[in-house]
Amino acid sequence: MGETVQRRLVRKRNLEIALSKVAPHPAPKAHLEQYTIPANVAAEFLYIAAYINDDIIRKNVVDLGCGTGRLAIGAALLGAKETVGIDIDKTAVKLAFKNAVNLGVKDKTSWVVADIDAIHGAFDTVIQNPPFGVQKRKADRRFLQKSLELAQRIYSLHKGENSKELAKTLTRGTPTKPAQPSVFLKRFVKRHGGKIRIAYAMIMTIPYMFKFHRKRKHEFLVNLYVIEREAG
Ligand SMILES: C[S@@+](CC[C@H](N)C(=O)[O-])C[C@H]1O[C@@H](n2cnc3c(N)ncnc32)[C@H](O)[C@@H]1O
Repeated sequence: MGETVQRRLVRKRNLEIALSKVAPHPAPKAHLEQYTIPANVAAEFLYIAAYINDDIIRKNVVDLGCGTGRLAIGAALLGAKETVGIDIDKTAVKLAFKNAVNLGVKDKTSWVVADIDAIHGAFDTVIQNPPFGVQKRKADRRFLQKSLELAQRIYSLHKGENSKELAKTLTRGTPTKPAQPSVFLKRFVKRHGGKIRIAYAMIMTIPYMFKFHRKRKHEFLVNLYVIEREAG
């Protein structure tokens, strides 16, 4: 898929199929909230960034908390100039490298084992699915703050509101709906020099992974925030 997809629009379903081949973490740690973004959510996320906003193709992209690389590899498949993935967990990053080799984007991706604090520089776009802060309060805020230091455009996934009505309207045919941004995140982003342009609600389904999970699968609403750093 590597070379050919970059020259033309990739079908979302094909991207999802390719991303489903990105192996997830073999032994995820609860305190790092190491669940892998489902392939359908990753494809939707990247489609919005690439084809609605033109923030992926030929751009320098960084994936904060890349895990085993699903978002970063997706960005590379869609034609990012270069994508860097960074994660604090060595096992995840080693597997991300292996996944990039298997999907034919080894030369378009670089992988770093480090805390996100260690990364500096200027990128066009940040993509991230940070820990939601369920295990460690405020974990997602550090990611937001860092992302605003690194790039002009940020795509960031956060826990959404708990609305059964909204969830019912989200289907494979209508996978996203505009969502009301959290007042807190709006203020937080503003305080750190950014503005939330739009938020999209999506459904995230993850399998049973941690002891505290009560059901075979977890289904909840997430919001994809499109954030812009303001001049000045
Ligand atoms: C929800 S998982 C997302 C993984 C991957 N991006 C995905 O969407 O499949 C959050 C990731 O953030 C990483 N992480 C947590 N705290 C971190 C930190 N301070 N610096 C770097 N990575 C961190 C975890 O190891 C984990 O892989």
